[in-house]
Amino acid sequence: MTPRIALMGAGLIGREHADLVIAHPTATLAAICDPSPEAEALAARLGVPHWTDYAAMLDAERPDGAIVALPNHLHAPAALACIERGIACLVEKPVADGIAAAARIAEASERTGVPVLVGHHRRHSPDIRAARRTIEAGELGPLVAVNGMTLFDKPDAYFEAEWRRRRGGGVLLINLIHDIDVLRHLVGEIESVRAFTSSARRGFEVEDTASIAIRFVNGVLGTFIISDGAVSPWAWEYTSGQALYHPAQPGPSLFLAGRRASLSVSDLYLWRHAEEGAHWQHPLVREYRGGEISATYVNQLNHFIDVIGRKAEPLISARDGMATLAATLAVERAAHENRTVTLAEMLAAGEVAA
Ligand SMILES: NC(=O)c1ccc[n+]([C@@H]2O[C@H](COP(=O)([O-])OP(=O)(O)OC[C@H]3O[C@@H](n4cnc5c(N)ncnc54)[C@H](O)[C@@H]3O)[C@@H](O)[C@H]2O)c1
Repeated sequence: MTPRIALMGAGLIGREHADLVIAHPTATLAAICDPSPEAEALAARLGVPHWTDYAAMLDAERPDGAIVALPNHLHAPAALACIERGIACLVEKPVADGIAAAARIAEASERTGVPVLVGHHRRHSPDIRAARRTIEAGELGPLVAVNGMTLFDKPDAYFEAEWRRRRGGGVLLINLIHDIDVLRHLVGEIESVRAFTSSARRGFEVEDTASIAIRFVNGVLGTFIISDGAVSPWAWEYTSGQALYHPAQPGPSLFLAGRRASLSVSDLYLWRHAEEGAHWQHPLVREYRGGEISATYVNQLNHFIDVIGRKAEPLISARDGMATLAATLAVERAAHENRTVTLAEMLAAGEVAA
């Protein structure tokens, strides 16, 4: 099968998707829909039809799959337009701009059986795949605790856009959502969160830094620190070497501790006792659990092609993406209202039966 994939939205990430589809050995780019002059020029350069109305494009081109790389508020209408036509779609993260809109996508996908894959690309990253395999193999034993960091420095120019200085435009909803998705993928469903935020470094309304405490349904406890105003190598963007716009700085940014052993990610060192019965007064041995060489976004596209061909269930469905969105919004609310917020509360507020 040579799947024909259409692209909706050819902005920053949409252009990356276009390049990936063009470079793929089996997929072809069916068309691009984006009203911007830059997108029109891109379609002409790539020799594919250009559209300004995505519904008209879907009707005329009848692609096998579609990538939704539109602004967040258009994710739900675009995904629903695909589902109505039986077209599998890859919807960029967040799955929608709110829980109710995410629920509409999930419900339509489940009712019709038309698959939706949410673009939480880190799940396709070699380091996250290895961590998941190691946990699933029971090498860490039951997980006890997790601790992670996303600490990097965005340039001042990034904040020239007014919306990035206001509540909702900061590291929690733009960046933490990726970390929350990885934590859910590796550790399990989140039960509740507490959080502190600070805007002390930049002084904008929006937070520049947050510390988060997490209780998982399975009893694991977690902490996470995030800031877009700190110079550090401790962020998946650096440690994985897999991000599109950041240098590789190999090392750890996530620590998973279990009853039998611990694992640091992205460097994938497993620490365990050499002998049964050993404890905190005995030395640990360190073993490497990495080795896979592959590219996250290529892996994601390969998986999407399997989803289009109905050979695989989406690694992250619309309902899964909704839970990641709800947990991220819970952190924002917990910080703002200075209280514990549960995932159940967020889903109920979004008028969703989880
Ligand atoms: N997974 C990732 O690595 C990653 C990275 C960046 C962005 N994203 C997500 O991708 C989405 C797009 O982000 P971006 O940074 O590329 O934004 P962007 O603003 O650069 O691009 C959005 C594009 O959509 C086009 N557009 C707007 N309305 C349209 C419509 N009705 N029909 C067709 N095209 C329309 C715009 O002209 C623009 O070119 C967001 O949801 C964002 O969260 C994901």
